[in-house]
Amino acid sequence: MESTLSAGNRLVGKRVLITGTGGGQGAAAQELFAQEGARVVGCDVVPGAAESAARKLAEQGHDVHGHTVDLADPDEACAWVDAAAASLGGIDVLYNNAAGFAFAPFADFTVDLWRHVMRVELDIVFHTTHPAWPHLRQSGGAIINTASVSGLRGIGAIGQAAHSAAKGGVIALTRTLAAEGAPDGIRANAISPGFVSSPATDTAMDDDARQYMLNMHLIQRPGTGPDIAALALYLASDESSWVTGQNISVDGGWTAGYR
Ligand SMILES: NC(=O)c1ccc[n+]([C@@H]2O[C@H](COP(=O)([O-])OP(=O)(O)OC[C@H]3O[C@@H](n4cnc5c(N)ncnc54)[C@H](O)[C@@H]3O)[C@@H](O)[C@H]2O)c1
Repeated sequence: MESTLSAGNRLVGKRVLITGTGGGQGAAAQELFAQEGARVVGCDVVPGAAESAARKLAEQGHDVHGHTVDLADPDEACAWVDAAAASLGGIDVLYNNAAGFAFAPFADFTVDLWRHVMRVELDIVFHTTHPAWPHLRQSGGAIINTASVSGLRGIGAIGQAAHSAAKGGVIALTRTLAAEGAPDGIRANAISPGFVSSPATDTAMDDDARQYMLNMHLIQRPGTGPDIAALALYLASDESSWVTGQNISVDGGWTAGYR
């Protein structure tokens, strides 16, 4: 991916965990955060993907490490958080970016498929945030959760019932984490992307589905990893120290109206 990201010092000294760093938005955020001085530990379920993304940045002199982890397994998620906190000496930022997905018309949903989507989109946020919580209380840290415009709007044609319920859950969870965490200085915010070009959407969407999605955006291009990473950087940095409990859409105007 061609980087359009700038270098600076907005995250110097920050100890950051990012999930899903093997590609897409997680990889873009990891690159930007490292360039801004953060020490980053990433992970991805695709074997070797997080390691490879981290290695490229480490070769440029950044303090970045990546591990193969299936966050849908609570024990694996907990072990990753514990090891990352130990290696970094604490946690200042937890960016819950990773998610799987599955779509089906509502009539075709099975209980197993419903539970699968909840596990890979909503449960995994709990699996990392719960073990990270004591560290975030200690540091007065920041949580960034990735939700979706699908958690805000019903989209009829592409079978998003479970996906939208899970992402709506991420938004609601974010608000409660902000409320419960405020006395300890923890901030929690969510980002709701619109249609973003990523390894997942580039392969899962045919031309018709892509055009259907793009038609809902005021700005008719897909979002990019750097589009989302720019907001994540703000939410991870001290610049957003009075921002908590918010869900912010980065969606080419999708949730604002129609062309
Ligand atoms: N791409 C879009 O159009 C879009 C729109 C709205 C929201 N989102 C959300 O943005 C986030 C990032 O997605 P993306 O666009 O970069 O797509 P992506 O699928 O390319 O990236 C997600 C990454 O998370 C990893 N992952 C998935 N399940 C995991 C697990 N159980 N354990 C560890 N890693 C796991 C994947 O391997 C992948 O590298 C996701 O939460 C997604 O739901 C994406």
